[in-house]
Amino acid sequence: MGIKPFSLMDDELFLEYYHQIVAPTTMDRKLELVFERASGTRLWDSRGKEYLEFGASVGVTGVGQLHPKIVEMAAKMLEKIGFIEGTGFAYRVPVTVAGKPYEVSNAALADTILPLMFPGRALRDLRFLPEITGGTAINASVKLCMKANTGRRYFLPFERAFHGRHGYSNELTNSKEIQKKGYVFSGTVQNQVPFPDSYESMKRAFELFHRIPMGDVNAFVLEYLQGEGGFRWPNVQCMDKLLKSLRSHGIFIVPDEIQSGLGRTGKWFAHQHGNVAPDVVVVSKTFGGGICPVAGIGYDRAMFDYKDDSILETGWHSGTWPGYPFGTALAIMFLDIMEEEHLVENAEKMGKNLTEILQKYCIHKYDSRADDLVDYCVRTGYGLMQGLEFRKYNGEPHPEWRNVVLKNLREADPIGILASGAGHEKINPVIRFEPSLTVTKEDIDCLDNALSQALYKNKP
Ligand SMILES: Cc1ncc(COP(=O)(O)O)c(C=O)c1O
Repeated sequence: MGIKPFSLMDDELFLEYYHQIVAPTTMDRKLELVFERASGTRLWDSRGKEYLEFGASVGVTGVGQLHPKIVEMAAKMLEKIGFIEGTGFAYRVPVTVAGKPYEVSNAALADTILPLMFPGRALRDLRFLPEITGGTAINASVKLCMKANTGRRYFLPFERAFHGRHGYSNELTNSKEIQKKGYVFSGTVQNQVPFPDSYESMKRAFELFHRIPMGDVNAFVLEYLQGEGGFRWPNVQCMDKLLKSLRSHGIFIVPDEIQSGLGRTGKWFAHQHGNVAPDVVVVSKTFGGGICPVAGIGYDRAMFDYKDDSILETGWHSGTWPGYPFGTALAIMFLDIMEEEHLVENAEKMGKNLTEILQKYCIHKYDSRADDLVDYCVRTGYGLMQGLEFRKYNGEPHPEWRNVVLKNLREADPIGILASGAGHEKINPVIRFEPSLTVTKEDIDCLDNALSQALYKNKP
């Protein structure tokens, strides 16, 4: 054994070797860039080129890369404790960061996140279940609902939903065909529900509810703002109607806030733009402060008729890593930074700036400013989770244009923009713009400058 001196290879050779030895994951293109360092909203590649991170971290770096308080908390924790199984032992670690004392424990984390998930509710009516990643947390939430709503075996995802690639979370996912290739279903997922971004699609959803045995439906796991599905924002009134109807059938409402939550839409959670309270809320991604995987599930104990948690018997759901000290410390620090730096408010403000910028590039085919019948973009999403959808003059999706713009953005001068795709190539090819919540007006102006270079260069 021996660690190879990769530094002797140039980037091209390194990438060739990389593709040979590392299994392909979500890459839909050959990796082209090799990154070396990051800070705040910026990254630098091996050639020293600077990039603004506008989505490549898929929402993980909510407080930016290497926020000084996250770094200090990490360093202090590593002086105190490496690992203890948070699912098997209690720990309580006192840490001072930037002169402020914190108590790192899962109780402290639960005590902070639950009131944000369920505002106005008494803490004694709520519980927090630590988890590790988005997919495993969705998996655990499905288990939780099965245990509470016994006898109801079906789960309803939205069309083009994305909830992860593990077990039940993979079954609920349907944003792309590839995600399920070769997968054998457990039979818990029933039909896909149209996403209520218009009255027309809400009507189709209700037609579906009339056709399926709603009494057998256990829970409705939903992205209030669809991520992988193309940054789709609902018609809030339609979503309210849909969720109220589901609730009236005794179906649990389970917002997957893994990407849309923790401030991204200018509220703590995207579903809080509507008027239906959830039974379970799932978070992950940026919860670990942009450094490590942390997920959490908040649930309303009314799901269990306030029976004691004997319903969640010891050992029924656990794992080695959920609630591990390092992750819990960073999640606590993350929540404190969000509050101290007013990042939910900043997301709302910067979200409006982003809307203004993106709107400029959405020249509709019937717009009098444009020539007759031109290819066009449509703005999608909300807050700091918005996108541009690429369409041909006749309304058909234009994925080739989307892909060229993604490349042009990466190559923009003087600062490249890292963004990634969302949506289905054949339905709604989108570029997602999902910066850190610390993003500034200057960063958004930089995107504007890059878009003005990128949109029509080498346009197919
Ligand atoms: C809404 C949503 N749910 C679940 C997941 C899965 O999370 P993970 O990749 O951590 O398993 C993702 C990841 O992109 C997501 O966006």
